Amino acid sequence: MNTKLNINFAGIKLKNPVLTASGTFGYGYELADLIPLEKLGAIITKTITLEPRLGNPQPRIAEVESGMLNAIGLQNIGVKNFIEKPLENLKKTGVPIIVSIAGKCGKDYAEIVKILNGFKEIAAVELNLSCPNLKKKIICHDVSLTKDIIKRVKKISKVPIIVKLSPLITDISELALSAQNCGADAVTLANTYPAMAIDIETFKPKLSTIKGGLSGPCVKSMSIRCVYDAYQKIKIPILGCGGIMTWQDAVEFMLAGASAVSVGTASLISPKNLIKIIDGLENFLSVKKIKSIKEISGAMKR
Ligand SMILES: Cc1cc2nc3c(=O)[nH]c(=O)nc-3n(C[C@H](O)[C@H](O)[C@H](O)COP(=O)(O)O)c2cc1C
Repeated sequence: MNTKLNINFAGIKLKNPVLTASGTFGYGYELADLIPLEKLGAIITKTITLEPRLGNPQPRIAEVESGMLNAIGLQNIGVKNFIEKPLENLKKTGVPIIVSIAGKCGKDYAEIVKILNGFKEIAAVELNLSCPNLKKKIICHDVSLTKDIIKRVKKISKVPIIVKLSPLITDISELALSAQNCGADAVTLANTYPAMAIDIETFKPKLSTIKGGLSGPCVKSMSIRCVYDAYQKIKIPILGCGGIMTWQDAVEFMLAGASAVSVGTASLISPKNLIKIIDGLENFLSVKKIKSIKEISGAMKR
């Protein structure tokens, strides 16, 4: 077995650094017929909340130049239904499971984590503090709320916690540092970028919510900058995310300081892109005669 791609991400052993990005791979198990799930580094599941949510009305997806807008609004089946079916099915895949969670306050996040603590198959939780598609403001824009959530979860969680931040912030490195100081084991940088588009025939916004989150190739360079800035300040590992379409993009994120990457829009286009990225990374290491993928994290030369 090739071990060049093996990493230990915040205490989680992964066979490679390519993860699914929350919300773009369902609850994971549904895609088992399309790609060999066991090849993935880990599956980050669709964000779940305490109670089921219907999400926003249609239209909530729109294609834009070099990317897509979404305003799903955290539609999900709620934690109780999640542990009944998706988690049961995911357990059978043997892939590390990272459960993305969201709520309105620290109490909500802690309640979900208390329930998830009962399942030893869960490798980590990702705290989504950065959804741009809710009526309330983005959680991580409220620093004291952010700190409270991380501290509460850290106190009770049996598994590492990964904090997913919004890129729409003046200095993401300060926020990442604050997350680290509150006990985060890793950060995901970053979520989508608040954005909008208008249909010039109807004069109507392309999304029912007017504004949504922008993802795909058009955000890549901005997200790499987030990773690079945070890498200068924090010691915890970074999960790079935003516009990764190819293995070359994944390498770029890692050179900027990411220890692993999560892939969203590219896997919506085709889940096979995840496998292509993994295979491409493996080939890259062979061609460059690099012994371990870990060597390229933060290896950008000046
Ligand atoms: C349709 C869609 C749904 C998403 N749902 C979630 C979600 O539930 N939770 C979350 O943390 N991020 C969610 N995201 C954001 C992605 O996980 C990812 O951070 C973002 O799309 C940037 O990566 P990408 O350019 O590779 O897609 C969603 C993105 C899309 C396109």
